[in-house]
Formats: sequence, structure tokens, C-alpha cells
Amino acid sequence: MGIALPPNKKVFWFTGLSGSGKTTLAEALCNHLKTKNISYFSLDGDVLRKGLCRDLGFSLNDRKENLRRAAELSLILLQSYDFILASFITPTNEIRNMIRNIISNDIIEIYIKCSVEKCIERDPKGLYKKALSNDIKFFTGISSVYEPPINPDLIINTQKSNINNSCNQIKEFINQFT
Ligand code: ADX
Repeated sequence: MGIALPPNKKVFWFTGLSGSGKTTLAEALCNHLKTKNISYFSLDGDVLRKGLCRDLGFSLNDRKENLRRAAELSLILLQSYDFILASFITPTNEIRNMIRNIISNDIIEIYIKCSVEKCIERDPKGLYKKALSNDIKFFTGISSVYEPPINPDLIINTQKSNINNSCNQIKEFINQFT
């Protein structure tokens, strides 16, 4: 296998509802980057909230602090890895602007689009069921806001296209940065 040319360093920031497919697509991308010999690091909300951000809940203020830390961490990791894949709900435009200001030119925003009705149907972690019966407060899409991004660099509609097609779309898009 040849030596990979140094790619541009980038943070690929996946935003979308819980259950929209952010982590699944980020995982597919990890495998793709592995085969291309590109160094990457993948971060997501569930992992950060177990440690670094375990003092935070789901009010908009706590989400903002969670995502500020995630953005700063991405920036630090960018010193050692070429691509950072960051998968967080990232619910509002104000928060996404804050992240853009922290990471500046090196961020690519990917909107994983899926209706809340479809996410409820998928409900991979059983959280929507709990949110709908009010066992979880401030749940994104149910009792807490999700604003679709205004001008994302890429939209993947996981409701319209199946996993295979969504993965191919994202791989094709990312190839321009490798
Ligand atoms: S964010 O809003 O601050 O970006 P983040 O991506 O870190 O959220 O965490 C989302 C994950 O936390 C979800 O995938 C889900 O597993 C879990 N979770 C637990 N409670 C909530 C809630 N109230 N709203 C959304 N996600 C929740």
C-alpha cells in the first residue's frame, strides 16, 4: 500500500436528532478512513457524557457547555490527528455558531436529517419511549428544541436513503478532503 498524502486537517461535525444515524455514519467513515491510512479520532455525546462532561445535563445551558468542551477537545485532538469526527446532537444555531468560532476554518458541518417521527419509530436506545411518557425531561425533538442547521456543508437524509446509500454519500463527500 502506498503512503497516504497528508490531508487537510478537518473536524467533521455531525449534527442531528438522537437516532438520526450520526454515530452509525461516523463509524462507517472510520472504517473508510482506516482503509485510506488517514489518522482520525471519533468523539460522541454518549462517550463524553460518561466522563469529561458527566457534570452536565440537558438544559440548553448545559448542552452549550458540553459542546464548548467537545469543540475545544476537537481542536486539541486536531494537533495529533488529521480528521476528527464529532457526533453530537448540537441542537441550536447559536451553539453551532459558537462551535464554528472555536474551530474556525477547519470545521465541516454535516446535517444528518431525519424526522422526529422516524427517530421515534427507530428508537434504538428506547429513549423516545421514555421521553414521550415524560420519564426523561428536556428530550431533543420531544420536549427540547432542535433547529435544523441553516447552511450545512452536507445534508444526509437518512429517512430517504438507506444506510448503504447514506454511507456511500458521506464517503464520496469526504474523498475531496483526502
Ligand atoms: S447535545 O445536545 O449536548 O449535543 P449529546 O450529543 O451530547 O447532546 O448527547 C446526546 C445523547 O445523550 C443522546 O444520543 C442520548 O443517548 C442521550 N440523552 C439522554 N438524555 C437526553 C436528552 N434529554 N436529550 C437528548 N439526548 C439525551
